[in-house]
Amino acid sequence: MTAQARLTVFSPAKINLHLRIVGRRPDGYHDLETVMLPLEFGDKITLELRKTGIRLECDNPDLPSDDTNLAVCAAKALDDERGVKITLKKRIPLAAGLGGGSSNAAAVLMGLNQLWQAGASQEKLDKLAAGLGSDINFFLRQGAALCRGRGEQVEPVPCRLSATILLVNPGFGISTKWAYESYARSAAGAPAPLGDVTQLLRALAANDLDGVAKALHNSLEVPSIRKYPVLQLLKDALRAGGAACALMSGSGATVFGLFADAKAAERAAGLIRDQFGPSTWTQVTRAAGQ
Ligand code: C5P
Repeated sequence: MTAQARLTVFSPAKINLHLRIVGRRPDGYHDLETVMLPLEFGDKITLELRKTGIRLECDNPDLPSDDTNLAVCAAKALDDERGVKITLKKRIPLAAGLGGGSSNAAAVLMGLNQLWQAGASQEKLDKLAAGLGSDINFFLRQGAALCRGRGEQVEPVPCRLSATILLVNPGFGISTKWAYESYARSAAGAPAPLGDVTQLLRALAANDLDGVAKALHNSLEVPSIRKYPVLQLLKDALRAGGAACALMSGSGATVFGLFADAKAAERAAGLIRDQFGPSTWTQVTRAAGQ
């Protein structure tokens, strides 16, 4: 049998329906309790065997394609003596709270494990992922999950959410480091009101959109909205357009709305682009696997 020379893999975006900061850790990171959903929308990655060297080509010039790119870091972490050309079709906005870099790293780890026939166990992949960043372990599990610790402790949860999801990005990025530091500095650094994660998990499993809407929470939202008030305006526009609820995803700047009606989501996307101008990016999608 000839060995496979090329593999194309999907690299989904994610949203956080719940992100509660539980405390500060001695290593400077924050302990979290977060519920994340992988989406049908994402990037495409093609992996092609090369004799030597790990090379990345990306259609977005704003993304570094050198050793600092998480996709390259992931390949090197798996085996820095083998060769691959990674071609990344980037659709997920950068520094957007949608997990694009982490998702690419997880897709490269899983794809190269197959293409290189590296034989890494799930446990080994989990260990490599945790060393590379906070959300990569979540993407390795390929389903909705409740994540704890820095985000690397992943517990899969049942999700039957059929709502249409409208993502809206204002056209600028927010650095994850800045978002956490601002949270720590601000009055929001006091213990966050408990977003009820149990209620959220129950509602997700039952496809109860009203229940999900009541339980959304993001500790990082208040400081980000204080600095970028347009995020609140975008959330208001999502609600006005018919979303049952709206929230900032992760460390922002993307906000999302959950819609019972797919047509209303499409209409709201058009209205928001008209109202907020050409730098505003929108994407209609759904939770993956629904
Ligand atoms: O792990 P990742 O590279 O995505 O994190 C980027 C930055 O976000 C970290 O350097 C840290 O400042 C902050 N962070 C945090 N607590 C987390 C995740 C990220 O403070 N749980």
